[in-house]
Amino acid sequence: METPISMTSLLLLLTSFLFFLQSTKAAASTTAGSIAFTTLGRSRYSFDIFSLSIASQSDSISLSQETQLTDGVSVNFNGFFPSSNSLLYVSERNGSHHLLLDLLPSIEQVPLTHHSVFVDSGKTRFDITPNLDSVSMKDRPSLSGENLIYVSTHQPSFSPRKSWAGVYSTHISNSNTIRLTPDDVADFSPAVSPSGYWTAVASLSVWSGEVEELNTDLYLFRTFDGSQRTFIEHHAGWPCWADDSTLYFHRRDESGWWGVYKAVLSITGDAISLISVDRITPTGFHAFTPAASPGLPGVVAIATRRPDSEYRHVELVDLRNKGKYSYIEVTRNVKPFSHHYNPFISPDGSRIGYHRCRGSSNGNPPLLFESLKSIAPEEFSLFRFDGSYPSFSPDGKHIAFVGLPGVYVANTDGSGSIKEILSGNAFPTAWDWKREGVIYTSYGPDFASESTRVDIISIYIGNNNNEPVIKRLTTGGENNAFPSPSPDGKWIVFRSGRSGHKNLYIMDSMKGESTGLYQLTEGPWTDTMCSWSPDGEWIAFSSDRENPGGGSFAIYMVHPNGTGLRRVVHSGEGGRANHPAFSPDSKKLVFTSDYAGVSAEPISNPHHYQPYGDIFTINIDGSGIRRLTHNSYEDGTPAWTKFFLEPKDVSESLRGSAYCGFDDCHWLNIAANHNEIDGKSC
Ligand SMILES: *[C@@H]1O[C@H](CO)[C@@H](O)[C@H](O)[C@H]1NC(C)=O
Ligand SMILES: *[C@@H]1O[C@H](CO)[C@@H](O)[C@H](O)[C@H]1NC(C)=O
Repeated sequence: METPISMTSLLLLLTSFLFFLQSTKAAASTTAGSIAFTTLGRSRYSFDIFSLSIASQSDSISLSQETQLTDGVSVNFNGFFPSSNSLLYVSERNGSHHLLLDLLPSIEQVPLTHHSVFVDSGKTRFDITPNLDSVSMKDRPSLSGENLIYVSTHQPSFSPRKSWAGVYSTHISNSNTIRLTPDDVADFSPAVSPSGYWTAVASLSVWSGEVEELNTDLYLFRTFDGSQRTFIEHHAGWPCWADDSTLYFHRRDESGWWGVYKAVLSITGDAISLISVDRITPTGFHAFTPAASPGLPGVVAIATRRPDSEYRHVELVDLRNKGKYSYIEVTRNVKPFSHHYNPFISPDGSRIGYHRCRGSSNGNPPLLFESLKSIAPEEFSLFRFDGSYPSFSPDGKHIAFVGLPGVYVANTDGSGSIKEILSGNAFPTAWDWKREGVIYTSYGPDFASESTRVDIISIYIGNNNNEPVIKRLTTGGENNAFPSPSPDGKWIVFRSGRSGHKNLYIMDSMKGESTGLYQLTEGPWTDTMCSWSPDGEWIAFSSDRENPGGGSFAIYMVHPNGTGLRRVVHSGEGGRANHPAFSPDSKKLVFTSDYAGVSAEPISNPHHYQPYGDIFTINIDGSGIRRLTHNSYEDGTPAWTKFFLEPKDVSESLRGSAYCGFDDCHWLNIAANHNEIDGKSC
């Protein structure tokens, strides 16, 4: 039941509200500032590359102890052995993707398999990241002769929901770069054949929005120039070569199990035909991300999720005894309670590598703010923040965020401890612009139906050493959420499901809805994630009004008096643009969107609900969209402060003990036919 509102109080509300509308002044325009956003789980990855050596006899395989190959800085992943004494990998150190080549001194010197590799003795690490003059993702590197083959997202697709991932070749001494992927498609997971002649990719021309499995197709093309592009097989990902006519790949079958398959090709000149496809791993457990090597014939490395384990492990499958394949544990005996990702084998078959969380071994705690390379450093610094729904205090000195559950406040310089100001589930956070120490949030479950009890509350944390003072502002308990205060601190816009649909309402920021409500938007759809501009002129929000319930959200703006409604950005048919927040000068929006599609096969990463989520900015007139983040993670819930935070990492003082606390892909918990494997639901 809604609280009845008397005509007088409604009139009073409207009068003071309209007065507010007339008195709003434009805020001073600012260019510098900082943007912080969330990547769930990423601060806990701490990936390093580890390796074991393989001794293979005709009827048995044995493995050495595990060695850590990378240096414990940032995250290091997706390795490749150019030879058994060198390692190429991706590192996210210093706020952008680097492709690093380490010469491994501890490992016996073996000549590189392909010609020369610019080896400058004396140094053991080479940063061979192609200089493509932009912020972009670099992934899945390999070396073929003097060519670095890799995935990059530096070339925009110029079309919503179309991935920017393409395969490129860069000559490591003269830096000549060519795109091997045609402009209108996305290629993931490139694998160069042992001779170097062909490259296999998992290719996506149209993305359905599906993330558990991309449903890519297997293509080959000439590594030299991308020519002779040839379709091989539908519904195949993550190819790898055993020899120049044998490929392995993974796919999910109709019953839901991931399996590894073998494809045998006949190649005559540039004519390729597919001779056979056979499933290697049986149903009953998940097997994916295969790796093979001509130096280890008849053996394929896989990652598995077995019904008796919550962890992703690397195993070898010995295929040499036909009809009786044997499985050899690689990681379960070494590190049973860790996830291990994306195995790879050296060309001579003597080493297997993979990445996993290093734990606390190098003593670096997770970062509170991870400084990322900004596409416009003169305009804003960019940070990945270790908490959801961050919002800056008006003076830029504090940041509030939610822990799902719990609401917390930290100092932006990392000093002091992180304070919990509310336990229980709440989302998001928004600071009052005028009243110091007042934070708004909504208390109750997120992603809930229209009729769920969720209330807007204010939390006053200003009285030092005292308990936070909590005040409930909504009384009609129908999914009231996403409060955003007006710049004068007098009003709050929020979304409510009280009419049966989620629409936007405005209420007094101190008295709440007891003094009345003004309904800003109305219709049988969802308007949500509202944000009031610093100059008071606009409220930006996300809405599915063009296709209610269809799962597609676009960003709109409306004046607080209900006029001027317009769509600012949408991400094409079926796409999502969410969580808008204004720039300090109110002229731009930062938001999260699937506008650039997915950038890697999601199964090659830990769990992300929306691995297509990247952070963008756009001018409020809908022009000038810019992509700020390039990765295969879910980046979301951005906040923009006018205060410029120095682009440097800030460590967490309190939560430093939390290492490796991330989830593996939730859908791997589900066995065939959607029976849960281990009783844990996602
Ligand atoms: C990262 O930054 C540090 C210090 O700022 C510098 O010494 C190092 O060379 C950089 N590393 C890379 C890979 O750019
Ligand atoms: C509504 O607000 C906008 C922006 O402040 C203003 O330009 C417009 O005149 C207002 N319209 C009415 C009917 O008050």
